[in-house]
Amino acid sequence: MANINLTGIKPTGIPHIANYFGALKPFIDLANNSDNSMIFIADYHALNTIKDASKLKELTFEVACILLACGLDTNKTIIYKQSDVPQVFELQWILNNVTPKGLLNRAHAYKSVLDTNRQNGTDDDFGVNMGLFNYPVLMAADILLMDATKVPVGVDQKQHVEITKEIVRVFNNTYGQTLTMPECSIIEDVGLIPGLDGRKMSKSYGNIIELICPENELKKKINRIITNSQLPGEAKDINCALFNFYKLFASKEELQNMKKLFQQGIGWGEAKKMTFEVANKYLTPIREKYNYYKNNKKLVLEILDNGAQKARIIANKTLNKVHKSIGKL
Ligand code: TRP
Repeated sequence: MANINLTGIKPTGIPHIANYFGALKPFIDLANNSDNSMIFIADYHALNTIKDASKLKELTFEVACILLACGLDTNKTIIYKQSDVPQVFELQWILNNVTPKGLLNRAHAYKSVLDTNRQNGTDDDFGVNMGLFNYPVLMAADILLMDATKVPVGVDQKQHVEITKEIVRVFNNTYGQTLTMPECSIIEDVGLIPGLDGRKMSKSYGNIIELICPENELKKKINRIITNSQLPGEAKDINCALFNFYKLFASKEELQNMKKLFQQGIGWGEAKKMTFEVANKYLTPIREKYNYYKNNKKLVLEILDNGAQKARIIANKTLNKVHKSIGKL
């Protein structure tokens, strides 16, 4: 049986540098180096949080542009929008009927809302829609429909893949061997990617640098990366936000050289200038390709349509098997 890698990305806006190095790049590298990879934009997963139609459209299109700009090879990888494969939603309904509610009670996205409600003394169900509660079942449908064997995700999604596996067990127990048991493959932690203030880069800390931002904005942000008050001429510790940031973009040689310069006491201003240069060299082609796709919407939509056609073929095969198993006339 072929090994199929599948992952989904929820459209939530332009990724930041840590999203890129922590998730996007590893997946794209994996996809470009394997024969059977699929990636989709989980636009209907986003419905439980995004209620603004133009926002959903814009964000969905943006993710597609980002994936293409980051070098996803569409000759090798099937890329599609979840909503273009309606079989997903049919399978989800079928799976709902073998999914124990208790399994979903423990899912962390739902549980964290519940915990907050309890802490605040509000009703348990405050702010909970069925899209949030059923989120893991839709994700199971995404995975199982495509017969995926490997699901590369960040560690935050591990529980969802475990839930998927449990759903497979119950389904196959009930109806006989039908669905393929997937395996979760955790994208390796690339280590702490610091934000402007040296803490982990995270939207909630407000310390991010976006993957796509104009050159002058990138320069401004890098200039804001926190450093200590050592003067030029004083040797500096490479365990600092600026060096760690430089490391993301630099070649081996550049890195060696920067290490030396740190020992020799390079001034922070100079180090920041060099950091901007390597980062900008790395990010410029991505930014340019992103702008190209943003301005060629028709092309992007064609790529997505093409992907969806291929995905629907796989989907129909699985769904036919499922129909037989459950007894659809
Ligand atoms: N839930 C994932 C996230 O928020 C996105 C996702 C949806 C996904 N369906 C998937 C990931 C199927 C892997 C496989 O990041």
